[in-house]
Amino acid sequence: MRNIYKHFETLICAEESTTYGEERIEPFFYDPFKKIKLYNGDALELLKKIPDKCIDLIFADPPYFGNQSGLIIKRNDGHANTFDTQKAKWAYSKSLSYQFEFHYAWLKEAQRILKDGSTIWVTGTYHSIGVINVVLQDLGFKILNDIILHKRNAPPNFKGSCFRAVTETMLWAKKNNYGKTKFNYWQMKRLNGNTQMKNLWEYWAEKNPFRHPATKQQIILEYVILAGSNEGDLILDPFAGSGTTGFVAQGLGRKCIMIEIDPNYCQLIKDRIEGKYGEFRRKTKT
Ligand SMILES: C[S@@+](CC[C@H](N)C(=O)[O-])C[C@H]1O[C@@H](n2cnc3c(N)ncnc32)[C@H](O)[C@@H]1O
Repeated sequence: MRNIYKHFETLICAEESTTYGEERIEPFFYDPFKKIKLYNGDALELLKKIPDKCIDLIFADPPYFGNQSGLIIKRNDGHANTFDTQKAKWAYSKSLSYQFEFHYAWLKEAQRILKDGSTIWVTGTYHSIGVINVVLQDLGFKILNDIILHKRNAPPNFKGSCFRAVTETMLWAKKNNYGKTKFNYWQMKRLNGNTQMKNLWEYWAEKNPFRHPATKQQIILEYVILAGSNEGDLILDPFAGSGTTGFVAQGLGRKCIMIEIDPNYCQLIKDRIEGKYGEFRRKTKT
């Protein structure tokens, strides 16, 4: 494993080539025109190979570690009838100490590779977001907002055992306390009908055809990328899933590096970037 990544550091930010010296480092997918790269591997290893301060924005939707292994959950969100957690091993419950170790490992690297003033956006369920919040603060990130993602058409709580969960939290944080935050405030205000945008983002989840149980809605990635980056910037998603970040990044004229551990999801991402599920059509008003 280590050998494969020998020249990864030199390659990960290079746009024009995926070869270096005598060794070929093969991303799973690379589109030199759209400037989208996908690596199939463990983010905890691969992030270490990225040079300091070269990333303009990170969006991350890390594993939730909140599902009971093997549980079959009923769904009515249009993706499928059920979500078999046995197949989504990355969503299994893990001990708190495991979760802390995991989030420290990748967030430490994320902080190192972010440019000064640049930001990270991390989503999580109520299972995971508390741990992520503590780790971000402990590492010296500056939390700017907790953005509440309100899914208007979230499914009910089928058993009636607790309230219907309709929100998810996304923490928005700057690399550290220093420098001006990279934030397109006025653009976001214009998008919001010339009213200051709130930390409550409400949306209708659209059906999608992807064989991935946790695809983020395109509109959320559009807001994130428009708010925190400019055209030509380099965006990173270390837990790419079905590739929503890369799909939106290329649509909005940004470069993007994605990492995903599951090769089946990598194939899905490749198909998506190649337009097999349709071309990018912007959801936000222009
Ligand atoms: C919540 S999903 C991301 C969904 C994504 N935001 C989307 O829109 O499709 C988390 C993803 O992280 C991947 N993953 C889990 N552990 C990983 C690791 N150590 N390195 C890279 N990817 C990992 C899982 O396979 C899963 O696809």
